[in-house]
Amino acid sequence: MPSLNEIRATYLDFFAADGHEKVHSAPLVPQNDPSLLFVNAGMVPFKDYFTGASKPPYPRATSSQKCVRAGGKHNDLDNVGYTARHLTFFEMLGNFSFGDYFKEHAIDRAWKLVTQEFGLDAKRLLVTVYIDDDEAAAIWKKVTGFGDDKIIRIAGSDNFWAMGDSGPCGPCTEIFWDHGDKIPGGPPGSPDEDGDRYVEIWNNVFMQFEKENDQIVRNLPKPSVDTGMGLERMTTVLQGVHSVFETDLFKTLIAASEDATSTKSDGERAASHRVIADHLRSSSFLIADGVTPSNEGRGYVLRRIMRRAMRHAHLLGAADPLMHRLVPTLVAQMGDAYPELARAQPFIEDTLKQEEVRFRTTLGRGMALFDTAVQGFKPGDMLDGQTAFTLSDTYGFPLDLTQDEARRRGFSVNVDGFESAMAEQRQRSREHWKGSGQTANTNEWLAIRDRMGPTVFTGYDNIEGSGEVLALMNGGAPVETAEAGDIVEILFDNTPFYAESGGQTGDQGTLEWPGGEAEVLDVKKHAGDLHVLSAQITAGALQIGARVAQLVDADKRTTTRANHSAAHLLHTALKNVLGPAVAQKGQLVDSERARFDFSHGAPVTEDELAAIEAEVNAVIRQNVPAETRLMAPQEAIEAGAIALFGEKYGDEVRVLTLGRSLVSDNAPYSVELCGGTHVARTGDIGLFKVIQETGVAAGVRRIEALTGEAARLYLESQAKVTRNLARDFKIQTQDVPGRVEALQGSVKTLEKQVAELKKQLALGGGSGAASAPEEIGGIKLMARVLDGVDGKGLRGVAEDFRKQVGTGVVALIGVTEGKAAVTVAVTSDLTDRVNAADLARAAVIAMGGQGAGGKPDFAQGGAPDGSKAEDGLAAVREALKD
Ligand code: ALA
Repeated sequence: MPSLNEIRATYLDFFAADGHEKVHSAPLVPQNDPSLLFVNAGMVPFKDYFTGASKPPYPRATSSQKCVRAGGKHNDLDNVGYTARHLTFFEMLGNFSFGDYFKEHAIDRAWKLVTQEFGLDAKRLLVTVYIDDDEAAAIWKKVTGFGDDKIIRIAGSDNFWAMGDSGPCGPCTEIFWDHGDKIPGGPPGSPDEDGDRYVEIWNNVFMQFEKENDQIVRNLPKPSVDTGMGLERMTTVLQGVHSVFETDLFKTLIAASEDATSTKSDGERAASHRVIADHLRSSSFLIADGVTPSNEGRGYVLRRIMRRAMRHAHLLGAADPLMHRLVPTLVAQMGDAYPELARAQPFIEDTLKQEEVRFRTTLGRGMALFDTAVQGFKPGDMLDGQTAFTLSDTYGFPLDLTQDEARRRGFSVNVDGFESAMAEQRQRSREHWKGSGQTANTNEWLAIRDRMGPTVFTGYDNIEGSGEVLALMNGGAPVETAEAGDIVEILFDNTPFYAESGGQTGDQGTLEWPGGEAEVLDVKKHAGDLHVLSAQITAGALQIGARVAQLVDADKRTTTRANHSAAHLLHTALKNVLGPAVAQKGQLVDSERARFDFSHGAPVTEDELAAIEAEVNAVIRQNVPAETRLMAPQEAIEAGAIALFGEKYGDEVRVLTLGRSLVSDNAPYSVELCGGTHVARTGDIGLFKVIQETGVAAGVRRIEALTGEAARLYLESQAKVTRNLARDFKIQTQDVPGRVEALQGSVKTLEKQVAELKKQLALGGGSGAASAPEEIGGIKLMARVLDGVDGKGLRGVAEDFRKQVGTGVVALIGVTEGKAAVTVAVTSDLTDRVNAADLARAAVIAMGGQGAGGKPDFAQGGAPDGSKAEDGLAAVREALKD
């Protein structure tokens, strides 16, 4: 049975033999992306190679990348210890092609490694492809011999991987392992896919696009490949166990923890040992990469992980600090693959020990406070928010630690109460960062979020509200006051201002307070759920703590709502008209228009567009109320919500229903998960008009549309064009197309007549008889300069002249746009005496040209200077004299 270390080596060697550069894992703190808390996928360090921002030093690479998912968007912290597969730290093995190989080779290699090198039984594997990726499906069929039942097509973001709201992305194909029918769960795409039976072991992303603000904005310079194989999961499969904690590495770590605490990993204690083993890895690797425990940003995530592990050590009855004593075992296991871990060993041990010593001074008393607070509790009871806050503020218990302890005993924590207790402490918290002079980056906002809690958004029901200024940033640095003229970022405790998200732009509007005013330019989200207003102070000064009237621009909000709701209706209409495979790829809605990107292999035809518009307008005219409900994610999906799961959703999602189905009774028309602002009734949209349909990337189309008054104005401007034409022609509007067609016909006829007349003119004024030829050395010569006749036209004229002259030479120079074209024709009886090509060449050279080409009886050439046409003819006469 291969060890985890052997599996890692097999993977890397396999791809190195296939021309991949072995690249050492990048540090856990992202080097090239301030928006990311920790590296959470193998491709992150290579991001700029995919986008073309920098040139890759090798076309292929393979790596084993350290990843942490314990904060920010990817947060598995709460699940660790309680499931078979969640870890805060894991290794992602990857092979990458930067514009080198693509689907065929990637799939072929993955399959070879999995079935031949690792020897997995193909019968227990199945694969998924992105819904419309016929190419990948065909390759899998060829490579595996699988039927369609084992090549499952998946729509939506499950099989469309993106690094984040910005960065490279593309459709993916995954390999799943079937742990057998003793484990509950269904295959991917089935209702019970979330069970542990079928586990994804390989993700193969065909990187093709780049996103900005969650919109696909361009193709990558070259199609590329990004793969991810969770090492711990693959080890589970290869070692024939079901849980990552039963693999060799974790067994060794858990044995060390059992040893050090003289307890067994069984019953209730098993979860504690698992948490300790996992958190030991994430803490140690984070410390090795330079993160130190603190109360802000990354350092605070580390502190939360460490303290959670330390509480479990306490639960196991460890009398002395435990974590640092386990580091030698970890280094023995992983130090070869990650020498930075071995190098940092003393520092890791020291950091863990200090933190544990420090936390132990309050941990015991905090646990005692907890015990007292829950005395007499029955399962399902809730710990009050003030106690949770005291535990956090006085005893250093992060909220998730308190929740973890509550969960262990069957209780919950009043998070709202915790938040409001924290709000009362805000004044004091402010002192923390006053004048710190730091730039407001992700970390700063995360720290503020930790202290202040989320912004309460009141804008679903209101467009006005009063809020207290909690934070002010000028040029990215915290300030106490902002003066007239300053553009600042403002955080309120609550706000009716919508922050840009889900493709809807932030609100604009005004702020007013006694003696002052500001104009709100934009609103962005920071640290997940802070609504941060960008505003210019137009009068007075604004201070932290001020109470401010917030007024959203009502007109803009109204049109934005109509455009956002119209985008939802458009989404459903696209699926109805073009087919269910249409998947949303992005959208942008603001007060001007709705822009919607979706997957579709061909341009949408005029008829399809007409059908889509008709359907959307029919639903608008139903004028039924929009319904918004808060639901658990699973409930929402069962209700038919179009799910766009790229990231984990929280406990509750907003589900928006618009319109009634046009084909079945009692069914809604559109059901979507959406946090945006929407119309109250579909009729509020007024009118829907598509103004443009374009392609934005391979297989991705974009529709831009207008609603309400903007749509009416657009249609009016179109109508005006025809109306004006009808007035100018003095006809009815419906007769305009016929008139234009007739005009085009007569223009063509006239053009033909003009050409014919020019020719007639050249031939001697249309009388049929050309003026008499001259005679040189006994040879008749017709020599003419023809204005406005090009080389093509000269050919016909020369033929006519040659017939007329019977025996002789025709030399013509046509002048168009200042340039000269030369044509010389010689009757066949004279070709042994005179060569047309020689004569043409003489003329061309006399006019400053290079030469001419042709046969003895017919030759053509050109020269740059048409004003020398007479010189050209003179040269022909000279040549004939010889
Ligand atoms: N980047 C892809 C993932 O993280 C492979 O799953």
